[in-house]
Amino acid sequence: MYSSAYTPSGTRNLLEPAIQVIHADDNPSLDLKYIRHEQTSNGPDVVLTTVHLKDPEYPFEVTLHYKAYQHENVIEQWTSIKHTEPKAIRMQKYASANLYLSSAHNYYLTHFHGDWAREMNAEQIQLSAGLKVLDTKLGTRADLFQAPSFFLSLNQPSDEDHGEVLFGTLAWSGNYQLQFEIDPLRNLRIIAGINPYASEYILPPDTEFITPSFLLTYSNHGLGRASQNLHRWARKYRIPHGEGNRLTLLNNWEATYFDFNEDNLTMLFEDGKKLGVDLFLLDDGWFGNKYPRNDDRAGLGDWQENTEKLPHGIAYLVRKAEEIGIKFGIWLEPEMVSPKSELYENHSDWVIKAPNRAEYYYRNQLVLDMSNPEVQNFVYSVVDGMLSKHPTLGYIKWDCNAVIYNAYSATNPHQSHVYVEYVQGLYKVLDRLRIKYPDLPMMLCSGGGARVDYGALRYFTEFWPSDNTDGLERVFIQWNYSFFYPAIATCSHVTNWGTQPLKFRTDVAMMGKMGYDIVLSKLDANELAFSQQALKLYARIKNIIWLGDVFRLVSPFEINNDIASLMYVSENQDRAVWFTYLVSKRYRAGTTGPIRLKGLDSGKKYALQEINVYPGTDNSSVLTEKNISGDYLMTFGFNPVVDERRTSVILELTEIR
Ligand code: DGJ
Repeated sequence: MYSSAYTPSGTRNLLEPAIQVIHADDNPSLDLKYIRHEQTSNGPDVVLTTVHLKDPEYPFEVTLHYKAYQHENVIEQWTSIKHTEPKAIRMQKYASANLYLSSAHNYYLTHFHGDWAREMNAEQIQLSAGLKVLDTKLGTRADLFQAPSFFLSLNQPSDEDHGEVLFGTLAWSGNYQLQFEIDPLRNLRIIAGINPYASEYILPPDTEFITPSFLLTYSNHGLGRASQNLHRWARKYRIPHGEGNRLTLLNNWEATYFDFNEDNLTMLFEDGKKLGVDLFLLDDGWFGNKYPRNDDRAGLGDWQENTEKLPHGIAYLVRKAEEIGIKFGIWLEPEMVSPKSELYENHSDWVIKAPNRAEYYYRNQLVLDMSNPEVQNFVYSVVDGMLSKHPTLGYIKWDCNAVIYNAYSATNPHQSHVYVEYVQGLYKVLDRLRIKYPDLPMMLCSGGGARVDYGALRYFTEFWPSDNTDGLERVFIQWNYSFFYPAIATCSHVTNWGTQPLKFRTDVAMMGKMGYDIVLSKLDANELAFSQQALKLYARIKNIIWLGDVFRLVSPFEINNDIASLMYVSENQDRAVWFTYLVSKRYRAGTTGPIRLKGLDSGKKYALQEINVYPGTDNSSVLTEKNISGDYLMTFGFNPVVDERRTSVILELTEIR
């Protein structure tokens, strides 16, 4: 009974259920019996298995779906629930997945918690008898404190190359719950799905409720293989244009904040062109007239150009940027509203807030009620309006900075549906937008990476991992994101945060989807030449980083490691890019010997060349090897010579044919 594929509640079950319902006749018991199963092929290497379950006493059915991506070794699992009882039933819990693991003696759970500017801190625990719960109740930007992703090592903690490990992540951009229960037989039950917290769902007859997907991959070769599986799957099956191109960009957020006008924006376009990026991204602050968006206390919801800052409107900016020779993109935060806005004044019933409670603000703003179809249409029309008016607009940064307080809808007949229907409403809008604009690059953002998940990444080409853009911090933050998300989707910008040299910050940006957020006029001649060169270099190597497999070589999180080192290897192992960073300030910190590479072909010979070298660097210190075998590099290794004089080093490996 503990091992049910989808544990019902209120009958024989004594442990955590996957589903809990109250039938139309108020009976709170559920039993689910196997009826039949089918398997269908969903394209090459993709097999969908569906298992049909039914309550013997009620016309109540559950279908379990397991989609196996055989080549990537990823399983996507979700559940659909329906009934034909005389009236609606109440669902109190409706998980996506229910797993039972009985093959190990011990289970080590690694999960990731954080907050603004300090995302993705890993913590590993050995699971003990009883329940461990990871969850969020924040509603939107839901994973601010806890990511919906984890890994679980069997028997003993895994490392990059060894150990049995299961990676799991819930594709849902709202409240989730992941439960880990060591049962009386010392086996592990995992239940993953929407958080039942304040979310009883009333399901009418003949209506299907489909849960979000839970994704998992298993590796018996440690963490590295599991990340590669998930990245390959995400690029091929989930992220729009996951195997395609991305635009480098210059963003003005850290350069100007809210303080800009047409003239200085035009100068920034020139800067972008001079630097060599593909696109200029205008950030927050361009809108609102009655309540101008000159700081973060007003204007959200009033998506009209501020006539003082932009007298000739967006159309002028798009045209100007294009004349200068770069594309133009824009920031929106369409799900949000400032209390000081015309939108709030005219549609206060569109705002999530309790009628009889004080309003609570997060970043001085409130959240629109995405469960309301009128609000969905408004949000759709904000984005669609922008894109229809400016058909050559090249990019949208979709921000989301508030959590949901006082979860209450003025229009939803079921208050307990608000959290769930918020996310469903958001996805409906994004579905419509993606049908109309399938190729538009869109960044999934919130003040920090507190929103990324594989539900939202069905619609977004990339995500913003953290507002913390200090190069050193990003080495750590991006390291932990890399367990679950591929580099092509991981935005990484060169900014002025922190004390790292420009080369270090640029090298860090290169291990993701590169961009800039700096004031170009403050760069000296060397810095400018270096940055221009870096963008050209990036264009040459980006496909190895974006589409290759990641190999994490030396973790910055391990005590006594002065460095972080990781590499990307192309699928046919003919090219690789290897990044190493100094992460310690201790006396004589640095590499002390060779680092063993991974993922190369031991039978191949490679040329090895240090790249992204800063202008004026003494040539004799630049590393080059003309002919070195994969076998040698992987068994003996190579020293990238990282120390306080060379705090970051990139080496390119190319097969010699
Ligand atoms: C939070 C984002 O993370 C920043 O990059 C910036 O867009 C601000 N919001 C703007 O308000």
